[in-house]
Amino acid sequence: MKSGFLLSCLLASTAACSQPTPPAAAAGGTETVSIVPLPQSVEARPGALRVAGAVALEAPAAAPNARRTLEDALASLDLRTDAKATARIRLQLADDASLGEEGYRLVVGDGIDLVARTDAGLLHAVQSLRQLLPAQAQAEYRLPHLAITDVPAYAWRGSSLDVARSFLPVEYLERHIDRMAFFKLNRLHLHLSDDQGWRMEIKRYPKLVEIGGASAVRGGRSGWYTQEQLKHLVAYAQARGITIVPEIDMPGHVQAMLASYNELACDDVENLAPYDGLEVGFSVLCLSKPEVVYPFVRHVLEEVLEVFPSQEIHIGGDEIKHPLYADFVARTAAVVREMGRTPIAWEEGSVADTGPDMLLQLWNDGYAIDAAVAKGHPLILSPCTYFYLDHGNHAGQPQTYDWCRKEGVPLERVYSFDPTEFKTAVGIEAALWSELVHTDAAADDRLWPRLAAVSEVAWSSAGQRDYAGFLERMGALRAHLDALGIRYHPEPDLGWDGGEAEK
Ligand code: ACM
Repeated sequence: MKSGFLLSCLLASTAACSQPTPPAAAAGGTETVSIVPLPQSVEARPGALRVAGAVALEAPAAAPNARRTLEDALASLDLRTDAKATARIRLQLADDASLGEEGYRLVVGDGIDLVARTDAGLLHAVQSLRQLLPAQAQAEYRLPHLAITDVPAYAWRGSSLDVARSFLPVEYLERHIDRMAFFKLNRLHLHLSDDQGWRMEIKRYPKLVEIGGASAVRGGRSGWYTQEQLKHLVAYAQARGITIVPEIDMPGHVQAMLASYNELACDDVENLAPYDGLEVGFSVLCLSKPEVVYPFVRHVLEEVLEVFPSQEIHIGGDEIKHPLYADFVARTAAVVREMGRTPIAWEEGSVADTGPDMLLQLWNDGYAIDAAVAKGHPLILSPCTYFYLDHGNHAGQPQTYDWCRKEGVPLERVYSFDPTEFKTAVGIEAALWSELVHTDAAADDRLWPRLAAVSEVAWSSAGQRDYAGFLERMGALRAHLDALGIRYHPEPDLGWDGGEAEK
């Protein structure tokens, strides 16, 4: 984990890391500050700043991403940058340990001052400033005087996308990264392989995409990414403060691998055809052929790590029972560690003897995780009754699953999650599985506005959150969601249910 201060702080106690402060409220007596996720503290000050036509922008060379993001935002509001303009925006890097790796201060007074320790912190400050401004260009802007101090509760604020069951094009992933950044989410986990498809070009094993890239779940999209496309995406995400975390799911969920390279299956396996169904738990690498399986795993991981600089690398490990399962997870985790990275496995991997640094991603609400917590494994929290966004926005929504929660996972349910009981949690991640999500529009509907609630659960401290306040602030951001091109769910709690068709 790169943000060492924040991590040690989180592992000690979330509450101890943040000052008890009042929630964002009316600023200047009359104006509501609508920022999602809710900042740690917002102090209203008398007065307002008027901005029109142009601003003078000062930014340090060491914060290129924040500067570019701010310049793009100003341009979209028809605000020029001009050193002689009277309105001033100043970005500053300051070594203030209380801000951690991603915290920031934003002060609106005679000018606008954004301060952070890092470019990433300044990026978040810019996103808050964007949310204080309207989504569309106006002749003049009026910002209430205020002072915001903001530090995230959790270092890991993730969205995972299953591009294996049904492919998502690079253009969609770019838009998704833009939207994540707007809500200060910072990890995009790509589930790059599963029974129904293999999505990443591996130069040493070209059939993985020739065969595995050509299949998809029934009704879904096939396809694959070249390494050049993925490198482009990594850089695109990095420039927006987001790390892409790749997952190669093993040793189960591998029918696309077996269909591509039959020798990875045991000799008695008859079904080696590409798969487009919905079942899970039937395919497995032939763990009794270690001389075939482990060189393959190592070579694939070498190319994955070459493309993805993420410190954390996900090796899957879910939904397979096999006598050599724990051995496989331990050996594969060791390969990742040998390559200088940190492995992540789904919660089932807790049975393996991997050393405590491996992160575990919790997905079953009732999973007996205590032993893993006692061993010290950091946790990424994705309990399915709160964060499986392939489940309905409401009970019975067409084209959604309900195996984990019959009532679906409505917005209020997502918002209600309390992570504080998980003392080794590094953060939260919401998963969009794609067995039933086959179009960009369907992905938008399942992700938004629920992912904004995820961002608030992961960023804002538990004692500050309140659903009514969240709805009010989200409601005010609707024009921004429109400007981002999001085809969000017509969420009744937000009054957005204008009779749109289900997607
Ligand atoms: C999972 O839902 N099998 C991680």
